[in-house]
This record gives sequence, structure tokens and C-alpha cells, in this order.
Amino acid sequence: MNGAFVSLTTPDQTLTLRDGAFGRATCLRCRECGATRDLGPHYACYECFGPLEIGYDFGTVTREQIEAGPANIWRYKALLPVPDDIESSPNLEPGFTRLLEARNLAAELGLTKLWVKDDSTNPTNSFKDRVVACALSAAREFGSTVFACPSTGNLANAVAAAGARAGIRTVVFIPSDLETPKQVNSAIFTDNLVAVDGTYDDVNKLASEIAGEDPGWAFVNVNVRPFYAEGSKTLGYEIAEQLGWRLPDQVVIPVASGSQLTKVHKAFRELVELGLVEDKPCRIFGAQAQGCNPVATAYKDGVDAIRPVKPDTIAKSLAIGNPADGVYVLDIARATDGAVEEVDDEQIRDAIVLLARTEGIFTETAGGTTVAVLKKLVETGQLDPTLETVVINTGHGLKTLDAVAGSVGPRATIAPTYDAFTAAGIA
Ligand SMILES: Cc1ncc(COP(=O)(O)O)c(C=O)c1O
Ligand SMILES: [Zn+2]
Repeated sequence: MNGAFVSLTTPDQTLTLRDGAFGRATCLRCRECGATRDLGPHYACYECFGPLEIGYDFGTVTREQIEAGPANIWRYKALLPVPDDIESSPNLEPGFTRLLEARNLAAELGLTKLWVKDDSTNPTNSFKDRVVACALSAAREFGSTVFACPSTGNLANAVAAAGARAGIRTVVFIPSDLETPKQVNSAIFTDNLVAVDGTYDDVNKLASEIAGEDPGWAFVNVNVRPFYAEGSKTLGYEIAEQLGWRLPDQVVIPVASGSQLTKVHKAFRELVELGLVEDKPCRIFGAQAQGCNPVATAYKDGVDAIRPVKPDTIAKSLAIGNPADGVYVLDIARATDGAVEEVDDEQIRDAIVLLARTEGIFTETAGGTTVAVLKKLVETGQLDPTLETVVINTGHGLKTLDAVAGSVGPRATIAPTYDAFTAAGIA
């Protein structure tokens, strides 16, 4: 990699941005030292190498204005780094997914009020369509020629599909041991699925190197990361709006890089600051798999530093051993009286089946992790069962069939006769 600062332009090229390219976003701000710089394809602070995030001057935003918008993430465009005409450029229009009251699961787990935010119904069946839609807008405004990502699977699916629809060349990089459905779900949309022999963290390092060498490549979660990450805020906005413009008491969120959790928290704070919801305590819990638990371990040990791990879990979508936003997840879990918990592969499988049998929702291993962590948090007294709780299902079970193929199947295989049916003892 050419130093820490990856740019889509070479040093002697100047990027010309059109007016309003990023809506009400005004700057990039360092999460560590607060230094600001102009909006552009940058992700690291010039002062301290800290990660950059988007700063805004929102002005006034009303509930009515949002409610009059489309039933997708663009209803929140005034709160995102996208132009006002975002709906006119081809994209997958993700979001505004269902918030389902989960009475059966609540009864099973001993909770008073539980909701599932079901993001498995997005266009490529995971929450990644949200972040990719924002990254695509940024790539378009930067004039990028290649839309790319390192991915644990779902992101590659979303980038490949969104790029196909937008008519931009895509190249997506994944660890070569990824589940077959996740590979096919990318390769169906792009000629350029690149399987790398290594972990996600190896793939991510390679992507950073390419981004440093090749101007014109927009790696959604590397050099366009500040813009990409803002897409996850829409999960938080939707939860609050769908609850009738109020915050839940507790939320359980899966953690891979930790970006989603930090952005749901940011969304809740923005809604309070804009006067769109009343301020109240909202406890934020993170969910990891035991086979990739760097943030849960740091939380349990009461330390601030995250020690990277080598992942070994069926929750491959959460298999990031060196999470970029891990320290911020720790801060938020601690500051909101939440926690970061972990569960093993067996608990993940059981929770996938539990959610399916109680609510008719087929989740992937990431959702299995999140529901299993919810169960563990209740059982260990870390989460208050009397408070209103939201659990986020971020992906679809059809992409990780192998995880549960050994746990469920035909009760009986019978001859096509009534006698055989009655003999099987099903009636
Ligand atoms: C289905 C699913 N859920 C959750 C996550 C975690 O996202 P983040 O990296 O923002 O923590 C991922 C990441 O790839 C994912 O694919
Ligand atoms: Zn800084």
C-alpha cells in the first residue's frame, strides 16, 4: 500500500465534485482527534491516522418530510451523504424492511416485548444493500471506474448486484473457503469474483494495497468507507420510525467489523439531536461467534485494546478477526450499559432453528449468532426481559443452508400411499 492515505485520484489529479454531491454532508471528521478535511475519497486522518466519518449540517429535518419519501432508504436522504437527486440514478432501492413483533420468540425466551428487524428481505438478502447504495452514490460522484470490495460474502453479493444495475464494472474479493451459495450469489452478477486463499483479514489487506495503487477503484469498505458506513444508520432510523418515532430500550446487533453497531448508535443520537425522537436510555448489545470473538473478549476482559484472532466459526459472515470499528463497539456497549457477548456454533445452529420455528424467519448464521446472544443475555441476566427489545436479523438463511442441513430434514420418507402415511405416525 502507498502509505496510509488511499485516494481515488493521483496526487496531481484534482477531484471536481458537483454542487450538492453529498447532500448536507459538510466534511470528513476524524473519530480520534476531531480534525476535519474536505469531502473526498479518503478514510484516514492526515493528523493521526484515525478513521474518518462524515460530518453534517442537517438544518431542519421533519418527520413529515421523511414520511413523504419512498419506502426505501432514500426517505432518509437528508441524513445521508447523497445528493438530492439520488432516486434518479439506478440503484437497488434497499431498506424499509419489516419490523416484526416477535410474540412467539419473546414467549420462548421470557421477554415481554420483542421485535425482529428483518433485513433478510433486502434485494440481495442482507443489510449490506444499504451500505452499498450509499457507497455507489459516492463512487458515482467521485467518477470511479471500478466498484469493488473485500467481503465475507454478503457485501460481495450486494456490490456485484448494485454494480450490475448501475452499469459500473465490479470486482469482488472473498476468502476462497466461503459458502457456495454466497459465491454463486456474487458470480451471478459479475464476471469478476476473485477467491483469495486466505482469511477475510488477508483479503482486506490485499484490497487496501490495490486501492493504493489503482486510482479509479472505489473499494466500498476501504477508501469509500466513511460514505459506505453511513448506510447502516438507516437501520436505526427505520427501527425508530417503525416503533412510532421512539427509541427501543435495548437492541442486539451482530458485530463483524463493528461498523453497523456504531452506525445504529449514531442514527439514534442524530434522531434525538434533530428532535425527531425523545431522548431516553437505549442499551446496545453486540453479538459475536465464539470462533471469532475479538470484541467480546476485550469486553469481558475489561480492556480497551482488541487483540486480533484467526476466525474458525460457521458464522463466516461475521469472521473478521481484526475489526476496524471494534474499539468503538466497546465504547458504545459500555457507555449505554449494554454488553458484547459470544455464542458457540451449536448455539448458533439452534438459534437459527428457533427463529424459524417461532417466527417463520429463516436467518443466516449471523442472525443465528444474534438470536443466540439475545437468549444468552436473558439467561445470564445481562438484558432486562421487561424492557422493549429489538434484535436485528441481517441476512438470509438460504445463503448458509449447510449450517443447518444436518439439523433439519424430512421427518419420514414414505411410499405415496395412505397406509404408509398412517404407519409413519404423523397424523
Ligand atoms: C449478515 C451480516 N450481518 C452482520 C455483519 C456485520 O457487519 P459489520 O461489519 O458492520 O459489523 C455482516 C458483515 O459482513 C454480515 O454479512
Ligand atoms: Zn485524527
